[in-house]
Amino acid sequence: MIGIYMSGTGNTKHCVSKLLSVIDPKAEMIPIESEESAEKIRQSDTVLLAYPTQFSNVPFMVKDFIRKKPELWKNKKVFCLTTMGAFSGDGAGCAARLLKKYGAKIIGGLHVRMPDAVCDNKMLKKSLEENKRIVREADKKIEAVGRKIVKEGIYPQDGLSFMAHLAGLFGQRLWFYGKTARYSDKLKISEDCVGCGICANNCPMGNLKIVDGKAVADNRCAMCYRCISHCPKQAITLLGKEVIEQCRYDRYC
Ligand SMILES: Cc1cc2nc3c(=O)[nH]c(=O)nc-3n(C[C@H](O)[C@H](O)[C@H](O)COP(=O)(O)O)c2cc1C
Repeated sequence: MIGIYMSGTGNTKHCVSKLLSVIDPKAEMIPIESEESAEKIRQSDTVLLAYPTQFSNVPFMVKDFIRKKPELWKNKKVFCLTTMGAFSGDGAGCAARLLKKYGAKIIGGLHVRMPDAVCDNKMLKKSLEENKRIVREADKKIEAVGRKIVKEGIYPQDGLSFMAHLAGLFGQRLWFYGKTARYSDKLKISEDCVGCGICANNCPMGNLKIVDGKAVADNRCAMCYRCISHCPKQAITLLGKEVIEQCRYDRYC
């Protein structure tokens, strides 16, 4: 098995690492943006594909990756894992349906609730204690799922049913579909930017660069919130207008 993941603030990366440590401790895990990711998928018969739910859907970056190399997925066994701040309905099912079109065999789906990466929206803010509790619950769920896979060969089927499809569609996706239909051009950089380059070095899309001592964003933002959660000046926003409190997995473990 190989773990391929998209992760902005570290939640999904942590979940992949935790699950693989139980079900296949020798398995490699690779970020989706790595140059090696496609080749590693080609060499493996089973893929754990993981990503954060965005607007009850698969991030465009992941859809783009899947669609660009359709031949990769033929007869590949794929286990879809998605992390979410609250609800996704069929977050795992969204990628599963796309992958099936290209001939993949879906062996399971797993939904894991984690802290919300959207840190420029007051409504989504939770206390440090609450986020730590969410991570502990997530770890328990992953351990239980992992044990079941190892002992009984039974994979969870979160988000793969028809009812889950309806819940995801009508719960949110239908209203926000446009948000994950392309990369975003809505990243905003304030005057507080000091041009340190941390954002540019971290962006999985190479969407940021430093020009004349300031960060400048292009129109290929994956909405992962990695730059926003790492900016030492809290100068970057996307969905909201101001950073409330940066969210990163390493603060909650
Ligand atoms: C642009 C965006 C949209 C999101 N939409 C949803 C959503 O529809 N439902 C949900 O429960 N969580 C949503 N989230 C929360 C993330 O799925 C969640 O925080 C995830 O664990 C982040 O994982 P990461 O740190 O690996 O990127 C959204 C996050 C972002 C950045």
